Amino acid sequence: MTGPDDERAGELTSPPPKPVDDVFAKVEDARVEQWHLAESLGLLPFFRELRGEVGPRMIFEGKPVVMLGSNNYLGLTADPRVRQAAVDAVSRYGTGLTGSRLLNGTLPLHRQLEEELADWVGLEAALVFTTGYAANLGLMVSLLGEGDAAFVDSAAHASLVDGGRFSDGTLRAFRHNRPNSLRRGLRAWREQPDAGGLLVAVDGVYSMEGDLAPLADIAAACSEFGARLLVDEAHALGVVGPDGSGSAREAGIRPDLVMGTFSKSLASCGGFIAGPRPVIDFLKVTCRPLLFTASGVPASLAAALEASRLARSESWRQEAVVANARRLRRGLRELGYDAGGDDRSAIVPVVVGDDWKAGTLWRALLEQGVYTNCAVAPAVSKALLRTSVMATHTERDIDDALAGFEAAASAR
Ligand SMILES: Cc1ncc(COP(=O)(O)O)c(C=O)c1O
Repeated sequence: MTGPDDERAGELTSPPPKPVDDVFAKVEDARVEQWHLAESLGLLPFFRELRGEVGPRMIFEGKPVVMLGSNNYLGLTADPRVRQAAVDAVSRYGTGLTGSRLLNGTLPLHRQLEEELADWVGLEAALVFTTGYAANLGLMVSLLGEGDAAFVDSAAHASLVDGGRFSDGTLRAFRHNRPNSLRRGLRAWREQPDAGGLLVAVDGVYSMEGDLAPLADIAAACSEFGARLLVDEAHALGVVGPDGSGSAREAGIRPDLVMGTFSKSLASCGGFIAGPRPVIDFLKVTCRPLLFTASGVPASLAAALEASRLARSESWRQEAVVANARRLRRGLRELGYDAGGDDRSAIVPVVVGDDWKAGTLWRALLEQGVYTNCAVAPAVSKALLRTSVMATHTERDIDDALAGFEAAASAR
């Protein structure tokens, strides 16, 4: 006869799993070895601790640096009005909502944000999520059923890819910024006998490349084949389009759906989907990444609301961030760097090509007082240093960063 204790004892004494049976077997991975090697050589550009607030200049590991590795495009994380809004929200509502939006996690701040964000991007209604990742994932998993397909640009953000992957529909990629590649895919899909609905998902501004999607052409392809269009405006809001309202308005189109995040120009954390009210209502009853996670904290919501108001009312920020990016891009090209990005975006990628060279250049730039972000495979096909600027960088900041690039040029 065995009791519960004997069963537990049995579990404890059972032989260890064979390597192939053990889910931990896969943690012995070449990528982890490379990671440890880079770390031991002081070349690991990831999970580094930044102390102090994110601004145009910061102290990194005891050294002053020009910050070119942040998405704080409008420089609003340090704005006293945004900070005060966050502080007031903590005073009024406390530190957390301790529940889902469905039950006890919705505040008047959500409603205000949803109304104002929908108005900003020019769509009927909006829904705030705890992160932008959850917004894209939740939207796509809710909308794409069996027989449906998502056509996603091959350079689109992981949250769009994962949304297609985790849904019951089919995920298809089309070549980056090639509307004809999209058209071919949509046509082939439509020729299938039982083809269901279609959703096309693109970034308005690509986070690594800093280029803009050819939205007018993509929207035309969508109407030709009866596909719905989702534009991820994460890197466009505040930076591109009239009043920073995004790349869709810049292109003069009205997509079916827009996604935005608070984690870049809006100086906070959280995300939203905007679209027709019936779609938003459907998400409120079906969307698992909305319903089964806690609502964002009051401070995040209040900061995003205040930041969105400032983004819309202080047009100098949009002008300054774009001018700073142009100055940086032009200067890097003059120094012989392969610097990309559209002149309307805040992102200036510096293509290096090889992962290790990118790490070496990243380190050399740090030594010269320039903080950049290193992007390697699989995030990008060619390793690059992703730089981005803020509205609050001065010309002097940009010129000092360029001097750092000049001094680090031998590490290319
Ligand atoms: C294009 C794009 N979409 C979505 C997201 C996800 O946003 P969040 O940081 O709010 O989760 C990001 C963030 O990196 C992004 O760059």
